[in-house]
Amino acid sequence: MAKVAFIGLGVMGFPMAGHLKVRGGHDVTVYNRTSAKAERWAAEFGGRAAATPAEAAKGQEFVFACVGNDDDLRSVTTGKDGAFETIASGAVFIDNTTASAEVARELYAAASAKGARFIDAPVSGGQAGAENGVLTVMCGGDAEAFDRARPIIEAYARMVGLMGPAGAGQLTKMINQICIAGLVQGLAEGIHFGKKAGLDIERVIDVISKGAAGSWQMENRHKTMNAGKYDFGFAVDWMRKDLDIVLAEARRNGAKLPVTALVDQFYAEVQALGGNRWDTSSLLARLEK
Ligand SMILES: NC(=O)c1ccc[n+]([C@@H]2O[C@H](COP(=O)([O-])OP(=O)(O)OC[C@H]3O[C@@H](n4cnc5c(N)ncnc54)[C@H](OP(=O)(O)O)[C@@H]3O)[C@@H](O)[C@H]2O)c1
Repeated sequence: MAKVAFIGLGVMGFPMAGHLKVRGGHDVTVYNRTSAKAERWAAEFGGRAAATPAEAAKGQEFVFACVGNDDDLRSVTTGKDGAFETIASGAVFIDNTTASAEVARELYAAASAKGARFIDAPVSGGQAGAENGVLTVMCGGDAEAFDRARPIIEAYARMVGLMGPAGAGQLTKMINQICIAGLVQGLAEGIHFGKKAGLDIERVIDVISKGAAGSWQMENRHKTMNAGKYDFGFAVDWMRKDLDIVLAEARRNGAKLPVTALVDQFYAEVQALGGNRWDTSSLLARLEK
């Protein structure tokens, strides 16, 4: 049993912190900006709710965070009453936020200055993956800190990998999002074309999903896309935040991402249709408008 804090009890963080308590059997203290959520978590899982990230992090062996973006992450770490005010020397800070590689390196340096370790550890698998404790976790940081954190992270994960030094976890998550962007657009175009051609989409997918065109998105999203339902998981606003991070990194490293850049603009059009909170498969709605 380890002494653990979890900062950020959103759609992802709430169940992830729950797995640390129930499945991992750890001593968990939580912090959430909107305190009602932290109190609800403490009532449900029996842990302690702290008033600030600094209070939550004090005396812990492992401190987790899962907040929105780079600035949110800075606010709960190096900001006023942030976790880095109190983090213990030797503690490991594990960040599950999808953020930039730049902020990961910056916070790795800030944690090191306190004698602590920072691991960027963005996740893939969505709300269902968090609730079922089967996330994929892509880590960047030191091997020694990773080896200590890995068994703790495994409480909410099916796959945990160390990808390289600080920032490598975020870079891997960027590749994940690049691969998804073009794929979902292809799936949307296929379904759109099938409908125009007068084919039975269920029948089409039943057959082609067993061949070379098959994908997780096809298996898990075709039914809801065909029904025009877009409230299943990862929101367009989050995807645009992620693609913004990806395209900024590509400008730095010189990678050419023409399809990713185009799909990002398509998501901007989905937002203009009112789809900010629709899930990422709503690229089909744009074709059918
Ligand atoms: N949802 C998914 O399917 C999914 C999948 C993979 C990765 N992710 C990534 O995981 C992260 C969290 O996603 P989510 O869906 O859990 O988001 P969410 O439900 O909106 O939760 C965000 C959490 O961050 C807290 N927060 C935001 N800004 C803050 C600040 N400045 N100071 C303190 N706390 C702050 C929020 O507190 P309040 O409760 O006070 O608002 C909330 O607890 C994001 O980086 C997202 O891209 C999400």
